[in-house]
Amino acid sequence: MILAGKKIILAVTGSIAAYKTPQLVRLLVKAGADVRVLMTTAANGFVTPLALSTVSKHPVLTDVSNGSAWNNHVEMGLWADAMLIAPCSANTLGKLANGLCDNLVCAVYLSARCPVFIAPAMDEDMWAHPSTRNNINKVKAYGNHIVPVGHGELASGLVGEGRMAEPEDIVTLLAGFLNAGRPLKGTKALVTAGPTYERLDPVRFIGNFSTGKMGIAIAEALADKGAEVTLVLGPSHEKTTHPLITTIRIESAHELYTQAVKAFANCSIAVLAAAVADYRPLETANEKIKKAESEMSIALTKTEDTLAALGKIKTPVQTLVGFALETTNELEHARKKLEAKNADMIVLNSLRDEGAGFGHDTNKITLLPRAGEAIALPLQSKQDAAGAIVDYILKLRNAEATV
Ligand code: CTP
Repeated sequence: MILAGKKIILAVTGSIAAYKTPQLVRLLVKAGADVRVLMTTAANGFVTPLALSTVSKHPVLTDVSNGSAWNNHVEMGLWADAMLIAPCSANTLGKLANGLCDNLVCAVYLSARCPVFIAPAMDEDMWAHPSTRNNINKVKAYGNHIVPVGHGELASGLVGEGRMAEPEDIVTLLAGFLNAGRPLKGTKALVTAGPTYERLDPVRFIGNFSTGKMGIAIAEALADKGAEVTLVLGPSHEKTTHPLITTIRIESAHELYTQAVKAFANCSIAVLAAAVADYRPLETANEKIKKAESEMSIALTKTEDTLAALGKIKTPVQTLVGFALETTNELEHARKKLEAKNADMIVLNSLRDEGAGFGHDTNKITLLPRAGEAIALPLQSKQDAAGAIVDYILKLRNAEATV
């Protein structure tokens, strides 16, 4: 039984897909789960509480109080291993995105400390509406999991996206998540991301076009596997709200070096994805530099190389991963960096690959482990590339542990 002993709250809201929930409850119970059902009043029109209480073998709750008795939403939120909101109507999604709390489902959601899975169900145009997109992004940013909608015939007669995922698929997804464990639980990781700015004077700097997206995706992929991540992030508009990530904002290569060295002491994994300036102005002017001659030169001096520094102090139980952004002789240069900086793996980006490198939402990477062949991966989203990097780090660490 893939959900043996798991405690699940199913919250049913007002969408036609609610007619599938007795089947969903049956499958959850068959998989070994203890299921408690909550409903909004709108859901009552699509499925009866009697049907759901019969299959779950527990009373179905709709109101914060049932006459004289208070339905303790805090207790329910603490009891569950997972909360599943299925189907989640556009209306409930809007409430979840904005913290509204006018019914029991919202009260339990706000009190829940367990992972929350949201299975949206609505008509194609509602699903595509910018406000829905916005609400989906918001609830995702709060750390909730979205169960992908299906494609097919909708209640309106239209055919398109927006159907609630099939009950079988929801159960598989839930089981996959609850059983996956957290292979990096109890592990501390360091990630550097974004550009650095090296000040010339109070209004100018030397920087680069890095956005920090790749490094943030790696921090999130590590945290999703249970790691507690320290993210040392250069000037970037990007951010993460993942509860397992602590972000330390820095500006210069020197600040990045100081924070990374400090955090590395307690970390088992470090991924240095920041695009760090190799040189900084020898002097930073206190006042704005005035225009004078037709030519001017700026004296530069080398910054600390954080990856090389961590490579020097690394212990055998620490896994150190660097990046290499190259434009020519990519593999050769990356291999040299791997050796010179004593990393366990280099993630290579070539600027010659379309859709790779700074600014894109995609990346095309090659993993270059110290031991073994280079692994060239296809063009994929930065999230998927981050997942592949983290999976390979786990593989390296498992191989290490079994030697
Ligand atoms: N790096 C670092 N500190 C620096 C420069 C680079 O920690 N001062 C790290 C980057 O975060 C990356 C790796 O080193 O993980 C390689 O960065 P890259 O700029 O490609 O290499 P460099 O050593 O700077 O070599 P070059 O610029 O000559 O290619």
